[in-house]
Amino acid sequence: TATVPVAVAALLAAAGPAAAGPVTHGTAPARPAAAGAPGAGDPYFPLAGNGGYDVSHYDLTLRYDPAARHLDATAVLTARATARLTRFDLDLKGLKVTGVSVDHVKASYRRDGQELVVTPRTALRPGHRFQVAVTYSGTPGPVTDPDGSPDGWIPTDDGAFVAGEPQGAMTWFPANNHPLDKASYDFTLTVPQGHTAVANGVLLGSRTAHGRTTYRWRQSEPMAAYLATATIGKFRVEQFTTRGGIRVYNAVDPREAKAAAPVVRQLPAVLDWESGLFGPYPFRAAGAIVDHAPDVGYALETQTRPLYDAAPDLSTLVHESAHQWFGDSVSLTRWQDIWLNEGFATYAEWLYTEQHGGDSAQQEFDALYARPATDRLWAFPPGDPGSGENIFDTPVYARGAMTLHELRRAVGDRAFFRILRAWATDHRGGHGTTAQFTALAERISGKDLGTLMRTWLETAGKPAAP
Ligand code: ARG
Ligand code: ZN
Repeated sequence: TATVPVAVAALLAAAGPAAAGPVTHGTAPARPAAAGAPGAGDPYFPLAGNGGYDVSHYDLTLRYDPAARHLDATAVLTARATARLTRFDLDLKGLKVTGVSVDHVKASYRRDGQELVVTPRTALRPGHRFQVAVTYSGTPGPVTDPDGSPDGWIPTDDGAFVAGEPQGAMTWFPANNHPLDKASYDFTLTVPQGHTAVANGVLLGSRTAHGRTTYRWRQSEPMAAYLATATIGKFRVEQFTTRGGIRVYNAVDPREAKAAAPVVRQLPAVLDWESGLFGPYPFRAAGAIVDHAPDVGYALETQTRPLYDAAPDLSTLVHESAHQWFGDSVSLTRWQDIWLNEGFATYAEWLYTEQHGGDSAQQEFDALYARPATDRLWAFPPGDPGSGENIFDTPVYARGAMTLHELRRAVGDRAFFRILRAWATDHRGGHGTTAQFTALAERISGKDLGTLMRTWLETAGKPAAP
């Protein structure tokens, strides 16, 4: 589909600092959106997120009946007003809202597309910490992303595959649905006995009564809404604690068990290897959810516990695990910088192969570089995909990884690995931008990397031979 989105990029650049800037010079984030604004100011997804408040915690209570595909839910968000708010938006798509309260007082609300517009009885003062509770129910289903993939609550034959990148969180809970706003989460998930409901973080406990089981999960470290899951199925579960004290919980669909076992078994070793390169694993919990969801077509790095649509190969496990550092712990400030997630996770695959007896990263680079100038790989530069339609396309993954390889060749291995580690460490639990990454790489290497980064990240077409 995609032609080189030069025109779109030019339009965005013209739209000002909240839009595409030159990545190596632009100051970072989108400017803060106005109080009550329906979006966080990200031109790739203009209605994602909202203005005027910051969520610190989501408490989600969900009861799902897989046979009827029916959801009954309550979401309680703890947030802080960043401006005076007479009304504010949450992102929620589909479902029926039956009540909203702010600080335990009934609030009025209306639906407007993906916006749930809430008007509290009295205006919120700037700095005020408040709780908003939303009760809702219905039949959740996915949204279709600009690239055509299903995203959000995706029913399966025995439950639901729940993934949210980039937009799907709003299909199952009201959210400030942009990675700029990270929060902790509690999940209370009730499903028919015999089903398992798997979310992020640590399993606090489960209890069965009257033919239903309730699972309580806690994600303590900050998480972007798109990385939340509440995947439901008839899973085989295994739990253990690693030598390093990480709580591992794996859930595998029996139909995928045979193929998944040899790969999932590698998870602790992969996380150890990645910790050696990128610094300490950023979360207290880990694991894998291997579902049987033939209509999905991708895996997602759901925080602490990546979600696979089928038994993954080892490279995919390495990729989703690397995202725990790059994408999950260090989050995007704007979707344009998606190569900071996908280029890094792809380069982690190359490094893994290189250090485990396979092709070197240079060989991977050379094989890609040999592709003709007409190849999809060169359709747009990874630092400027142009729109949400392109964020999971080949240039973001492969040319993004090639960018890191060129950086490595320019600064040498010693500086390169220090840069990767410093990036994960300095921005742990927070955010980063391409401009900040380049500045860090220049600081650590003592080299001017402007030309290299501009060439590989921002310049249309196949770069001249390195
Ligand atoms: N971040 C995921 C991965 O690299 C890809 C998610 C694709 N999602 C989508 N809606 N197309 O592993
Ligand atoms: Zn990825």
